[in-house]
Amino acid sequence: RTVYVNGSYLPEEEATVSVFDRGFLFADGVYEVTSVLDGQLIDFDGHAKRLERSLGELDMDSPVSMDELRDIHRELVRRNDLREGGVYLQITRGAADRDFLFPEGAEPTIVLFTQAMNLTNSPKAEKGLKVISIPDIRWGRRDIKTVQLLAPSLGKMEAKKAGCDDAWMIEDGFVTEGTSNNAYIVKGGTIITRDLSNAILHGITRAAVLRFAREAQMKVEERSFTIDEAKDADEAFITSATTFVTPVVEIDGQQIGEGVPGTVAKRLREIYLEESR
Ligand code: PDD
Repeated sequence: RTVYVNGSYLPEEEATVSVFDRGFLFADGVYEVTSVLDGQLIDFDGHAKRLERSLGELDMDSPVSMDELRDIHRELVRRNDLREGGVYLQITRGAADRDFLFPEGAEPTIVLFTQAMNLTNSPKAEKGLKVISIPDIRWGRRDIKTVQLLAPSLGKMEAKKAGCDDAWMIEDGFVTEGTSNNAYIVKGGTIITRDLSNAILHGITRAAVLRFAREAQMKVEERSFTIDEAKDADEAFITSATTFVTPVVEIDGQQIGEGVPGTVAKRLREIYLEESR
């Protein structure tokens, strides 16, 4: 693979980052994952906007403009001949002697790489996911897409040990989101998903899916829902750049609806794939 590091396209074996990088020492960095279908970036503008917001909230500078960033994404897709998968982008505050205070004049580090993935022909999307619920132990600024991903990583491991695919995180009885995706339920034809706040990541796929749902005259409610309400729902599903819309068929061993992917989730997946290509 060819990866991009601080202005250079390099074979992955030759790409390096300093051991003093604050991304490594403090998780002082932000990231984005943009999906690629038929060699084309999906919703790059949305990801670029969120990246700028994440950087701003952490008082961090981007080493490149968003136009340059789009060109780098495209060039990397081209060089790696990527047809389907994702482009991972990370920007950190850069390398500096270890100190909790932000260093002055450090050059931000920027890294991009591609990952080939089967996004459209996904057996999980066909069958639906089994999820467990776990306490949301993350920090209070989940709206910033930082690289501190240990809590979701632990959550996914716990799900795997339980023979499941993923976990939904719970705070005060309410579902915040999935470990790496936004969470939804459907009740009486209404799509319900948590409203935007610092408690969740403002998903780019979420924004697109809610727009498509409203355009298709589906009812949408943006509000918190409890895990009990979720277990009693007709359908459940998740969205993210790498899963698009993927049905959830079981929560904590309890079947949702008929225990098979629901009609609303399936329809939204179709619409999303049609509209975003
Ligand atoms: N995760 N919520 C969380 C906590 C996430 O990590 C993600 C994305 C989402 C969905 O956001 P979007 O629709 O913009 O992908 C929601 C990416 C895919 C990841 O970490 O791999």
